[in-house]
Amino acid sequence: MKAIAVYPGKPNSIHLADLPMPRVDEIPNGRGVLVKVLRVGVDGTDKEINAAEYGAAPPGYDFLTLGHESFGRVVEVGPNVRDLAPGDYVVATVRRPGHSIYDLIGTSDMTTDTTYYERGISLLHGYLTEYYVDDAEFIVKVPATLQGVGVLLEPTSVVEKGIEQAYEIQRRLKVWRPQRAAVVGAGPLGLLATLALRLRGLQVATLARTEPPTLNSELVQALGARYVSTRQLPLAQAAQAYGPFDIIFEATGASSVVFEGMQALGHNGVLVLTGISGGKRTAEVPGDQILMGFVLGNKVAVGSVNANRTYFERGVQDMALAESLYPGWLARLLTHPVRGLENYAEMIRLLTEEKSAIKVYVELGRDAG
Ligand SMILES: NC(=O)c1ccc[n+]([C@@H]2O[C@H](COP(=O)([O-])OP(=O)(O)OC[C@H]3O[C@@H](n4cnc5c(N)ncnc54)[C@H](OP(=O)(O)O)[C@@H]3O)[C@@H](O)[C@H]2O)c1
Repeated sequence: MKAIAVYPGKPNSIHLADLPMPRVDEIPNGRGVLVKVLRVGVDGTDKEINAAEYGAAPPGYDFLTLGHESFGRVVEVGPNVRDLAPGDYVVATVRRPGHSIYDLIGTSDMTTDTTYYERGISLLHGYLTEYYVDDAEFIVKVPATLQGVGVLLEPTSVVEKGIEQAYEIQRRLKVWRPQRAAVVGAGPLGLLATLALRLRGLQVATLARTEPPTLNSELVQALGARYVSTRQLPLAQAAQAYGPFDIIFEATGASSVVFEGMQALGHNGVLVLTGISGGKRTAEVPGDQILMGFVLGNKVAVGSVNANRTYFERGVQDMALAESLYPGWLARLLTHPVRGLENYAEMIRLLTEEKSAIKVYVELGRDAG
């Protein structure tokens, strides 16, 4: 069967590869689930793997199948799978357990290992193919009512984890009742963070450089949040106007935002960092002021990567709530479909060149029925 793959370490090596059809009995203990892939979202990670910035092929292969944002339908289950059945819509998680204590308790997103096992990224083939098989432990059921937007569950899970980390940390405050949040970044992650924070009842200001109106700014406003261009109002001034911020959720990958966020954060606030900055930029920052502000303001900054099954399940709940409170909003993120695996060149072109794209995704065919 066909798969979109790269040769890790070789820039712009995206191509169509051939993989054997997977079988349910490849997974031990009768817990295998065979899934027909319906849609796969792509993001900056796929672009960076194709640019050979990182990525590793599975043992025994010289190529890596891309794709970590899956959506599919169960075709067959092993004899010991009770919680999933043929016909169910599903999304698979990305990271698989390594060896640390965190991996052993089902939280591989918190691994202390330095080797990552991630489908479509590192040492495991991804989902940009026709079928995949995996252990039921890593496959999350999605209600049929979310079939049109289920491909957004993986990025939603990243946001759910970041926000959950913030709330978990803030239990230190005993009576924390966050009211105002800033999200910096209005790409898929920033938009989904805006949604998740609005669903928790917060007033949200979402910032990015581009001046409105754009689809991104319209989507922010459709949630009852405020879109702010940092060219018109930098984060520090936005904090004066719309803060103090109890939470700042960073989703840019621009390291300068980290230090601006540290300063703009309110007393007892929490700064959640999710952007991935692969470069080597340095920045001159007002270190004394940041240190003083952090200490006297009892502030916290936390990094958050990936997500485990728990956050995928929270994501399903929030997506269902979003469909009822903001019907049609999630589908508006799915801006650029690519039909069929053979159109991989168009997929990577949209990902690298199309500035108006919010979510590029590959459509692999209609519902398997
Ligand atoms: N932690 C994780 O597990 C995880 C998972 C997936 C992705 N990520 C990372 O999360 C980040 C966001 O992902 P995404 O898919 O939403 O990315 P994206 O589509 O590239 O969006 C980035 C957003 O940040 C804004 N931005 C960039 N530089 C800025 C700056 N200096 N000040 C203000 N806004 C700025 C951009 O808008 P303007 O151009 O208008 O400013 C855009 O809205 C990326 O770094 C990605 O690699 C992390």
